[in-house]
Amino acid sequence: MAVAMAAPAAFACLLLLFPRSLEATMLTDAIATGKPLSMKRCLAQTPQELNLKVLPKECHEDIQQFYCQRVRDVASKRYSERLRGDCQPSAESQDPQMKPQAYAPAKIGYVIMGHRFPQNVKRLVSRLFEPGSTAFAIHVDEKSPSMYDDLRHWREVERLESVVQVFSEFNVVRGGPNMLKAELQGIRLLLNATVRWDFCILLSEQDYPLRANSVLAEYLWVHRGTSFVSVDEGECERDVSYQCGDRVVSLSGGAQYPKVPGMRYGSGSQWFVITWDFAEAVANNTGNPSTVVGAIFRDLTTVKQPDESFFQAVVLNTRFCALHSDYTLVWTDKDSMREVRSDTSEYNILSPGVLSSLTDYFKLEEVRKQSLWAFFARNGC
Ligand SMILES: *[C@@H]1O[C@H](CO)[C@@H](O)[C@H](O)[C@H]1NC(C)=O
Ligand SMILES: *[C@@H]1O[C@H](CO)[C@@H](O)[C@H](O)[C@H]1NC(C)=O
Repeated sequence: MAVAMAAPAAFACLLLLFPRSLEATMLTDAIATGKPLSMKRCLAQTPQELNLKVLPKECHEDIQQFYCQRVRDVASKRYSERLRGDCQPSAESQDPQMKPQAYAPAKIGYVIMGHRFPQNVKRLVSRLFEPGSTAFAIHVDEKSPSMYDDLRHWREVERLESVVQVFSEFNVVRGGPNMLKAELQGIRLLLNATVRWDFCILLSEQDYPLRANSVLAEYLWVHRGTSFVSVDEGECERDVSYQCGDRVVSLSGGAQYPKVPGMRYGSGSQWFVITWDFAEAVANNTGNPSTVVGAIFRDLTTVKQPDESFFQAVVLNTRFCALHSDYTLVWTDKDSMREVRSDTSEYNILSPGVLSSLTDYFKLEEVRKQSLWAFFARNGC
């Protein structure tokens, strides 16, 4: 889990250098002039422009298609027709909080993203599990098959098969689209779970629960109908990126890819709480680009780090804008944020460090007492 960092500073220290040179490319030319080459000419020129040998062979054809599609799209309807969103901020009559309703603590579906720490995931589930009121979908990065086996085994031993789903379908690399895809798959699995939850919450193995599930369930009942997504509207990086295997490469040489006209963009923490209704709207429509959600998905999954902009754009451009709270319920240890590099991604990130020593326990105790709004602390150990 990561907080996106502003500048595409990674270019200076590239191992991969993609495209080959930082001079004008077919893509930067198309962006600058609005007049792309034909698909055929573009495809013919890609071998000179793209440093294909840093990618596995099985992706060569796909990346050339992907790249030339981005070149072409600059002048396509996708980037010239206005997106017609349906955000009507004053739709008060739909506000579920206006309807008197007997108290019933919210039921919660948790999506948990893991790649390294099975013990943390087990602890999270054990702490949050409430029979009949909770459901879990855990994604384990494809690069961690032993963690996957470990969790599958644990789920059987603890007889949690009907409550906990464990899946491992995506190779998650920072900057690339797979984190978002895994989150969406987790949401889809939860929509099929036996517990009919009210809210879906995204957690990672680095999150530590500060309070019992029941406290959160009561809080969310009060806020029924509200989705919590932190949204910083405005500037966002539009760096075209492509993932193959465990490599993520940047294709636009720092140039900003055009935005969809009429679409509102935002970025923010990856963490979210969304309602059942929101989750269904997302799950039903990501695959259909003629819907607002589908158009957002298609656009954002071609640029860097969609997991920190997708839910934000859905909030900004759909009816959910009226049922939205702009903050997260997670306390992050900012003191421990550090820049992390990777040799398979061109993107650096700011990531919370690891909380594990005795002082960290005192720190968590302090947060529990002082920050009454915080339900989770982000850490690792
Ligand atoms: C959900 O259940 C339906 C019906 O059993 C099935 O067709 C669908 O594939 C399931 N979805 C997921 C994501 O498992
Ligand atoms: C999503 O699709 C399901 C099944 O087709 C439908 O019952 C549900 O109402 C849809 N929800 C939304 C919010 O579109």
